[in-house]
Amino acid sequence: MPLKLEIPWVEKYRPLSFDEIVSQNIAINNLKNFIRENNIPHMIFTGPAGTGKTSTALIIAKTLLKGEYYHRNVLELNASDTVRMDSVRNAIKDFANQNMIIGDNNLKIIILDEADNIPTQVQQALRRIIEKTSSNVKFILMCNYIDRIIDPIISRCAVFRFVNLPREKIVERLKKIARLEGLSIPREREEKLFDTLFFISGGDLRKAINVLQMSVALDLLNNIDINEILKISGFLDEKILNNLIEHIEKKNFNKVKHIIESIENVDSRNLMRQLLYKVPSGGDQNSVLLTSYFGEIDYRISQGADDKIQLLALTAQIMKRIK
Ligand SMILES: Nc1ncnc2c1ncn2[C@@H]1O[C@H](COP(=O)(O)OP(=O)(O)OP(=O)(O)O)[C@@H](O)[C@H]1O
Ligand SMILES: [Mg+2]
Repeated sequence: MPLKLEIPWVEKYRPLSFDEIVSQNIAINNLKNFIRENNIPHMIFTGPAGTGKTSTALIIAKTLLKGEYYHRNVLELNASDTVRMDSVRNAIKDFANQNMIIGDNNLKIIILDEADNIPTQVQQALRRIIEKTSSNVKFILMCNYIDRIIDPIISRCAVFRFVNLPREKIVERLKKIARLEGLSIPREREEKLFDTLFFISGGDLRKAINVLQMSVALDLLNNIDINEILKISGFLDEKILNNLIEHIEKKNFNKVKHIIESIENVDSRNLMRQLLYKVPSGGDQNSVLLTSYFGEIDYRISQGADDKIQLLALTAQIMKRIK
C-alpha cells in the first residue's frame, strides 16, 4: 500500500491568527494588549512541546510586519540547528546592528527557537547583545525549560507560559482537521480513537496531529486499529499491556520479567505512562509511595539508566504495593 505523500498537517493547519491558537488564553490576551499598544517587550515563550509557542511567535511577526517587511525584518534562528554557536551570535549581531548603519528604525524581530539549548556562556554574550540593541529590535526566545535560561536574560523579558492542551481542546482541533480532510471515522469508535490520540499526545497537539496523519497514511483509520496506532507511536499495544497488568496483579514476577524482556520498540517512559494510568490509585499510603516511585524511575531513565532494569524495578514495586 503506497504512502500518501502530503505536506505535514501540522504545517498545513498551523494557526495563522491569534483566534486560532487554542487554549493559551492568558498568554494570548496579554500579548494582544502589547500589540494593541504597539509596544512589545522582549519576550520568552516557555512551555511543553507542541503547545503553540512557535506558531504564536510567527503570528506576532506577521501581525506587526506586513509584506516585504516580514522578510526583511524578521530573523528566525534555531539554537540547536546551528552547529557552531558563534554563527548564531554573529547572525544576531549583524542583523541587530544593521539599523545603526543604514538608519532603519522600523521594528525588527529576532525569533530564537530552542534557546534553552544555548550554553550558559553564550547566553551571557546574548544578554549583552540584548542590552545593547536599540529599542526597535525585539527578541522572542522560545524554550521548553525556562530554568535553563540565565536570570539576567529572564529579567529583561516578559515571560509567557504555554500549557499542555486539555483533552477537549485537542479533540476539538483533531475533529476540525478530520472534517477538513474529509476523513470518515466510524461514529461508534470515534471516542475511543480520540481518547487514544489524546493519551498518546500527553497534551502535545503537534504529536496528536502527527499521529492522526500517520494513521491515515498507514490506513489504520478504517477499522480504527487502536493497537497499531499505539505501536506506531512507541506505546505498548493493549493486548500485551493487559497481559502484563494481569501478571502484575497475580504477582507472578517471572512472567512479568519475561514480558518486559521481550518488549521491543516501546519507549519506556511511554510504557510508564500506560502503567500509571492503569494502576489503581487508592489514595492510601501505598499508592502515594508508588506514585513517587514512578517519578523516581522516570528521572533515572531520563538520566540514562538501563530501561529494562528500571522497568523491572518499577513493576516489582507495583507488585509489592498493590493489594
Ligand atoms: N495552541 C495551539 N493552537 C492551535 N494549534 C496548535 C497549538 N499548539 C500546537 N498547535 C499545532 O501544533 C503544531 C506545532 O505547534 P508549535 O510549533 O507552535 O509548537 P511549539 O510550542 O513551538 O512546540 P516546540 O516546543 O516543540 O517547538 C502547529 O503547527 C499547530 O498545528
Ligand atoms: Mg517551537
